[in-house]
Amino acid sequence: MDPIRNPYAPGAGQRPPELAGRDEQLRAFDVVLERVSRGRPERSLVLTGLRGVGKTVLLNTLRSQAVRRGWGTGKLEARPDQPLRRPLSSALHQAVRELGHGREEEVEHALGVLRAFSERAAGGDAKLRDRWSPGITAPLVRGRADSGDVEIDLVELLTDLGGLAGETGRGIAVFIDEMQDLGPDDVSALCAACHEISQSGLPLIVVGAGLPHLPAVLSASKSYSERLFAYQRIDRLSRAEADRALTTPAAEEDAGFTPEALEALYAATGGYPYFVQAYGKTVWDLAPASPITAADVDVATPEADRELGVGFFGSRYERATPGERDYLRAMAEATPDPDDPAGSVATADVAAVLARKPQALSPARDALLKKGLIYSGERGRIAFTVPHFGRYLREQA
Ligand SMILES: Nc1ncnc2c1ncn2[C@@H]1O[C@H](COP(=O)(O)OP(=O)(O)O)[C@@H](O)[C@H]1O
Ligand SMILES: [Mg+2]
Repeated sequence: MDPIRNPYAPGAGQRPPELAGRDEQLRAFDVVLERVSRGRPERSLVLTGLRGVGKTVLLNTLRSQAVRRGWGTGKLEARPDQPLRRPLSSALHQAVRELGHGREEEVEHALGVLRAFSERAAGGDAKLRDRWSPGITAPLVRGRADSGDVEIDLVELLTDLGGLAGETGRGIAVFIDEMQDLGPDDVSALCAACHEISQSGLPLIVVGAGLPHLPAVLSASKSYSERLFAYQRIDRLSRAEADRALTTPAAEEDAGFTPEALEALYAATGGYPYFVQAYGKTVWDLAPASPITAADVDVATPEADRELGVGFFGSRYERATPGERDYLRAMAEATPDPDDPAGSVATADVAAVLARKPQALSPARDALLKKGLIYSGERGRIAFTVPHFGRYLREQA
């Protein structure tokens, strides 16, 4: 079929032609926006899930939802070993500009505080050329959000910005992707600041997305984090939702699938959004005509798997050192239920497969955790962050 009209969009953060199965989250976020802008207490959303389930895409959609209500928004992606101060400053700068506020002096003041917060990044005694600011030209306001203690500074900054937003009757929303990669000090500061502003009823929220262990990261930092955030597990699509993700965009191009083709596609994708897009894209290109049949799916499967092997699995596998790859393969071998894509395995069992002491393997395990290839939801157990990764590794062997 005509590749130019192929509607599917495999790729990290690629907006899907049809956002299937997320109505509940979209509705919940509408309620959050409405309540928060009225100064009502409300928990913010945090999206969690494996790689490729659609967290980034959903986060971007929630952001658009906030923009449509006239909120000021900003977004950042956390990275391991990168302090929050600079990227957060940029995101908040964007949010303040988007918010639009009639009174110039008040905006200038808030931006001056934001500038002080951001310039504190290089340390108080840093040379001028090491200083960094997100391009804020407002005069520096000293004595607020610039103590150097990120927790104190963040509470002060968000309180001021929340106050600014409150005067507009709208709000500010900051979106943080890959939130599990924030450092412990930053997580703690962020929770403390969210706690503070929610108690004062200020219309500022932090919306996060991250791997399944993100709730554990947050509650290890502050026990009250469970009361601050409403966790939404983002998961694979049901059969009906996966069908909709495929058939709605096809119908717009006057194309369709036979029921058997949809069944074969669901068996192959397991309803994982990334796989739905990847298989949809390949089968469309290879099928001779509409409707796409089960036989077309059979023909396309090796090609779709090959592309996933390079793009989705391979790109991650490449990031592991030889020792870490041994560890990953041992994990795949030790996983109790190979068909459970989110199944976890005991680290002791991985060590047993490799005939090593668990302590000897901790450097490999820690490196893989840091690279985001595996996660640990409970003590002594680990799992792949990428669905079907174990299967991919077993097929490589
Ligand atoms: N609800 C959905 N319906 C259909 N496709 C989706 C949906 N959510 C995400 N996708 C597709 O899945 C892929 C991965 O999305 P992404 O947001 O990058 O996942 P994550 O951030 O969880 O790793 C993209 O190709 C995207 O188009
Ligand atoms: Mg993502």
